[in-house]
Amino acid sequence: MVDLLSHLGGDLRRQLYDLAHAARIRTYGRAVYLRGLIEFSNICKQNCLYCGLRSGNKSLSRYRLLPEEILNCCREGYALGYRTFVLQSGEDDWYTTEKLVLLIAAVKQLFPDAALTLSIGERDDECYSRLYAAGADRFLLRHETASANLYRSFHPTMEYENRQDRLNALQRIGYQVGAGFMVGLPDQTAADLAEDLLYLQQLQPDMIGIGPFLPHRDTPLKDELPGTVEDTLDMIALARLMVPDALIPATTAMGTAHPNGRERALQAGANVLMPNLSPMAVRAKYMLYNNKICTGDESAQCRFCLEQRVKSAGFHVDMGRGDSLKHLSRS
Ligand code: SAM
Ligand code: SF4
Ligand code: FES
Repeated sequence: MVDLLSHLGGDLRRQLYDLAHAARIRTYGRAVYLRGLIEFSNICKQNCLYCGLRSGNKSLSRYRLLPEEILNCCREGYALGYRTFVLQSGEDDWYTTEKLVLLIAAVKQLFPDAALTLSIGERDDECYSRLYAAGADRFLLRHETASANLYRSFHPTMEYENRQDRLNALQRIGYQVGAGFMVGLPDQTAADLAEDLLYLQQLQPDMIGIGPFLPHRDTPLKDELPGTVEDTLDMIALARLMVPDALIPATTAMGTAHPNGRERALQAGANVLMPNLSPMAVRAKYMLYNNKICTGDESAQCRFCLEQRVKSAGFHVDMGRGDSLKHLSRS
C-alpha cells in the first residue's frame, strides 16, 4: 500500500479513479444521497489541535441551538425534500442524554420516514444505547487517524484506544456507523494513510468520511500546510475499493479546498453530499477551518446548487433515506 501511495500519479491515478467509479456504479449506481446537516452547537470541551471549535479557542463566539430551533431546521429540511438529518456538534455536555433522547424522539415522531444521524463525539455505552433506543439510526465518529502517535499529538484531551473502542461500541449497539480520517495532517506519512485504509477495511463501517486537513487561524496548527485535493481523492478512491458498499461523502472540506473538489470526489468514488441546514445566523460560527464554504448561503440555495453540481458531475440526486447496503443486508 505504501509503495502504491508513493507511485500514484498520471495514468495510475486515472486508473485508480476509474476502478473506484466502477465499484461505486456496481454498488450504488449513479445515485448521490443528500443529508441535511444541522450544526447545533459549537461548544466543545475537547481541544483537538486542528479544530476551530477547540475549547482553547477563546476568540470564537459560541452558540447552542435549542431543541425547538433544531426541529425548525428539520421542518425546513423536510420541506426541501431531505430524508436524512445529521445533528452535529462539539462535545457539549449541556445536551445531556435526557435532552438528546427527547430531541431524537421528537424528530422521529414528526418525520417517521426520515433517518437520523448523530455526530456529537464520545459518550459512554449507556448514553449511546439510550440514544439508539430513542430512534437515532446512524452515528458519525471519525477515527481521525489510525496512527497512535499522530492521534496522541493532536488530541491532548482524548485517548487513542478510547476512540476506536467507542466505534466498536456504536457498532455493537446497532448503529450504522461512520468512521474516517483527515488527509494531510502535519507529519502524516504514506504509512500512516495506509494504516487508515487498513483500519477501515478491518472495521467495515457503513459510512466513511475523508477530507483534507485545513488549517484554522486560531489554532496551534495555523501555519501548517493544508492537505491536498489529489491526496484526498486517492484516499476516497482506495476507501471505495476496500469497502465497496460504504457511503462516502464528498465533504465540505473538499469543496473548500477546491471549487470543484466535491464533484471530483464524486467522480473518484464518493456518493453522498451533506449540505448545510443550520440557521444563517450561526453558520459562520461553526468554523472548523478557514474559508469554509456555504456560510453565506440559504439552505434552499445549497440544496439547488448541489443538484446542479451533481448533474454536472454525471450523477443524479436521490432524496431517499439512503441506508448503507451493509445495513440493508444485515436487517
Ligand atoms: N465533535 C465531534 C467529533 O469530533 O467527532 C463532531 C464534530 S467535529 C467538528 C467533525 C469533524 O470535523 C471531525 O471529525 C474532524 O475530522 C473534522 N475537522 C475538525 N477540524 C478540521 C480541520 N481543521 N480540517 C478538516 N477537518 C476538520
Ligand atoms: Fe471538539 Fe470535534 Fe472539534 Fe475535536 S473535532 S475540538 S471534539 S468539535
Ligand atoms: Fe452551498 Fe453550493 S452547496 S452554495
